[in-house]
Amino acid sequence: MLLSKKINDIKNNFEFDYKLLKENKINKSDIENKYLSRKGLINSLYSLLPTLSNTDKPEFGKKLNILKNSITNKIVSFIEKENSSDIDDVIDLTLPGKKFTKGSIHPITIIINDIKSIFSKIGFSSIYGPEVDTDYYNFEALNIPEYHPARDMQDTFYINDNVLLRTHTSSSQIHHMKNNKPPIRIISPGKVYRNEDISVRSYCLFHQIEGLFVDQGVSFADLKGTLEYFAKEFFGNDVRTRFRPSYFPFTEPSAEMDVYWGLKTDSDYKITKGTGWLEILGCGMVNPKVFDCVGYNSKNISGYAFGLGIERIAMLKYGIDDIRLLYNGDIDFLRQFK
Ligand code: PHE
Repeated sequence: MLLSKKINDIKNNFEFDYKLLKENKINKSDIENKYLSRKGLINSLYSLLPTLSNTDKPEFGKKLNILKNSITNKIVSFIEKENSSDIDDVIDLTLPGKKFTKGSIHPITIIINDIKSIFSKIGFSSIYGPEVDTDYYNFEALNIPEYHPARDMQDTFYINDNVLLRTHTSSSQIHHMKNNKPPIRIISPGKVYRNEDISVRSYCLFHQIEGLFVDQGVSFADLKGTLEYFAKEFFGNDVRTRFRPSYFPFTEPSAEMDVYWGLKTDSDYKITKGTGWLEILGCGMVNPKVFDCVGYNSKNISGYAFGLGIERIAMLKYGIDDIRLLYNGDIDFLRQFK
């Protein structure tokens, strides 16, 4: 029968073309046009249906439908496969995935965050001062005038006669007090710079956290109480602390606080110079001359300040015996800290 031969021919032709399509020798729009378009081969057979007898019509109609559906399905599934083949070809989903390496927090940041949260519990908020500052904020306003011998304590990186890299975070005190009125209760973490010989114990850059509390009737007992609270929170309830008298031009009286760490490991010996005690901060009652500089009336108010050194605390806490390890970006070293 003529029509069933035509159906068979189309079927065979399509199988052949479909192979070419899979081999990329023809493209999918060619094959779609040839078989499925309005003037395509399938429709040309449908247009012959009216010429058939009523008994033949249903049988061939059915055969044609089957052919049309099978061609359509094959083309559609080929297109779907092609769209997803980009991924399938490149990624073998059955292979184990690549290990995702998580970053870690730098030990200095861990310590700073811990200290910030300890002080925030007793109402201290964090503020930040500039690392590049003027002579005035770093020295002058802190009662360290030019040629004052205290400037010898800190070898300074000058950018020009007047501009420098801050040598301590105490400069943040001045910025903050100039822009705010008492009562003041802040800590100010950040980097400081000193032109020191680089060794296992010292580096040209390190971190401090400044603390400042200014209000009416603030006393040295408040300072001691606050720092003892801090030491207990940070080092544990049975920490031993001691205060030694000291000198800073911007505080009067001044002190330094040590904590007893003990001598358990080699790095404990090195960092505490064999004493077991570690000096972690300088502190004192804000010198009235500093209040004068920022425009506060030192007759009505008083305050205390302290400056904590972060590196030594980090070194003791983590048993790091060379300060330079904290700065050279060695990923294997830094990954150890969580
Ligand atoms: N700025 C001092 C230092 O760098 C520390 C300090 C801060 C001392 C505040 C007293 C009060 O050594």
